[in-house]
Formats: sequence, C-alpha cells, structure tokens
Amino acid sequence: MSVDLSTTYLGLTLRSPLVVGAAAPLTEDLDQLKAFEDAGAAAVVLHSLFEEQIEQEQLDLHHHAMHGAESYGEALSYLPEPSLFHVGHELYLRHIEQARARVALPIIASLNGTSPGQWVRFARQIEQAGADALELNIYSLPTDPELSSAAIENQVEEIVREVRTEVKLPLAVKLSPFFTNLSAMARRLVEAGADGLVLFNRFYQPDIDIEELEVRPNLLLSTPHDLRLPLRWIALLHGRLQADLAASGGVHRGTDVVRLLMAGASITQVVGSLLRHGPARLASLEEELAVWLQEHDYATVRELVGCMSQQRCPNPSDYERAQYMRAIQSYRPADAAAALGPW
Ligand SMILES: Cc1cc2nc3c(=O)[nH]c(=O)nc-3n(C[C@H](O)[C@H](O)[C@H](O)COP(=O)(O)O)c2cc1C
Repeated sequence: MSVDLSTTYLGLTLRSPLVVGAAAPLTEDLDQLKAFEDAGAAAVVLHSLFEEQIEQEQLDLHHHAMHGAESYGEALSYLPEPSLFHVGHELYLRHIEQARARVALPIIASLNGTSPGQWVRFARQIEQAGADALELNIYSLPTDPELSSAAIENQVEEIVREVRTEVKLPLAVKLSPFFTNLSAMARRLVEAGADGLVLFNRFYQPDIDIEELEVRPNLLLSTPHDLRLPLRWIALLHGRLQADLAASGGVHRGTDVVRLLMAGASITQVVGSLLRHGPARLASLEEELAVWLQEHDYATVRELVGCMSQQRCPNPSDYERAQYMRAIQSYRPADAAAALGPW
C-alpha cells in the first residue's frame, strides 16, 4: 500500500510535511537547495533577511547621497564599505530569483525583525522576486522594564499588520513561546493577517567562557527533547485558529514528525538534523514517516493531522497545568533515560 504524504500549508499543496527550515548554512547555497529538492524536500524556508540589514543599508544610502554629492569626482570613495549589512538586501533578492530558477520547490522567504518600521516594505520586493510565501520571524528579547507586556504585544501585532498590507503572499509568522497568553497572541496575529504560525523561534542563549571571561554566543543544536514545547502548543492551538500550524524545533526522527502531525502541525521544519547529517537525512525522514504510517494503517498524512490535538485527544487536560502534578510525581530515572532513544 502506498501512502499519500501530501499536506497543505499556507494554501500551497506540498508533497510531504518535510520542509527545510530557515538557516543560512542550509539555504544560502544553490547546489545545496537542489540537493534538498532531490532528497524530497516539500519546500524550503530561506534564511532570514534582518531588519538591521535593511535599515543599515538605508542609512548607508542616505550617507552616500548626503556626502557623495559634495564631490562628484570622488563620489565613489564615499560608498560605504561593503559589509554584511550593505550587501544583504540586494543579495537576498538575487538569491530568491536564482533559487526560483534553480529549483521547482515552493520557496518561502524569511524576514526577521522586532519593531514596526520602513523595513517591512521590503516584503513587497520579496514578493516581486518570486517567493511563494513569506515567513515573518519576530525575534525580540525585550529587556526594558518600562515596557509593558501589552505594549510588546501591540508592537508584534502591528508588524504583522504592516507586512500584511504590503503583500498578497501567504504569510506565516514565526513567534516566540514567551507570551503571557500565547493563545490570545496567536489569535491576534491571525486576525492581523497571518495565514500560518510557526512554533517556535529558538532563542540562542549565550554562554560564559569562564577562562577567558567572555560571553560567547556559541550555538547549540536542538535535541528531540526540544520538540515538547511546539508539540504542546500546536496541540493546544489546533482547530482553534483560522491558520495552519508549522512546527520548528526538535525534529530529528520520523516519529518526531508523526507526533507533531498528530498534535496538529501541517508541516514540520527541519534544521538541526540536516546540519548534522546533510540533505540525505530528509529522504530517510520521509521513509521513516511512510513506514510508520503503513505499519499503523494510515493511508494519508491528513488523517493524522490533529488526531491528538487537545480538542480531539482522549484526555484534554493532559496538555494543561493540571498534569503538572502528575508529571512530577511520575518521574522515574529509567523512563527519562529511555525517553530520548537514538536520534
Ligand atoms: C545555524 C542556524 C541558523 C539559523 N538561521 C535562522 C534564520 O535565518 N531565520 C530563522 O527564522 N531561523 C533561523 N534558525 C532557526 C531554525 O530555523 C529553527 O527554528 C531552529 O534551528 C529549530 O529547529 P531545529 O530543531 O530543527 O534545529 C537558525 C538555526 C540555526 C541552527
């Protein structure tokens, strides 16, 4: 029996739920994008273009206009130093165009920012460059004690509204799990125009080098344990919003994909596992998913989506605070060691 792995996400019909998530080492190189396509990727989310890159570029151009005009002959010397920030904008658009020409995969571009502003206008250029959808990553770490939660939430909503007015593209919002009431925030984002939510942004915590006395931003890849946070929130939100849910964080095995689909994800984004094992890992994830479905008599991925969401699972309270007591009382060292298994 063959299994139908197809799913829909942001109005796109995808061959499977396995999507390459945003990370420059995965998506910057066109040959690698092709390798992902050959390995069966259903779509790819490009690495982000950052608000800071766009705004720095605007500053650079302003500087050039002001100072370059004073001395035409030497105008070229006023061009800003080529920097990561300066080249970002142009390169990003060119990358979308080149990727569009190279692969037939749906391409989801990614804009990454924290505050409403001119940078959101860039969404339109992304649309014109040929992206199939846009993922808006709102990655902020508010530390100002004067800033209220309500003000932060209003700002996040405002960014989504602004981007929505710029583009007709399907729009997903990748958000942080750290809201006072994530359900309410999710609903506001959908009302502001998000067609999908990506749960979650992964916050990279800096470490302290105790010998050099330096703060180091060294990045640790996820493990399958990280999947529990998106799993719970996807299960809680599934069926309650007019939006698709995408999982990001902790997808390393075919059974991880199964879990997240059961919770209610339409797609699962994979990054860490592909950084560790390369594009071929996608093909084995697909194989593991298909075999699991066959062995459990599912003919389609769609039958699985949401079957264990909070609304549909036998014990809805399992996803809520009530189970906190049960969880801490049920701890057994052997279970904890076995829970992870090979990955
Ligand atoms: C090296 C690296 C670069 C990343 N760059 C981006 C990025 O540009 N934009 C973004 O939204 N997420 C970025 N992420 C986060 C991933 O998209 C993803 O959310 C996170 O790695 C969790 O998924 P995983 O458990 O499959 O790794 C990056 C992650 C890594 C490891």
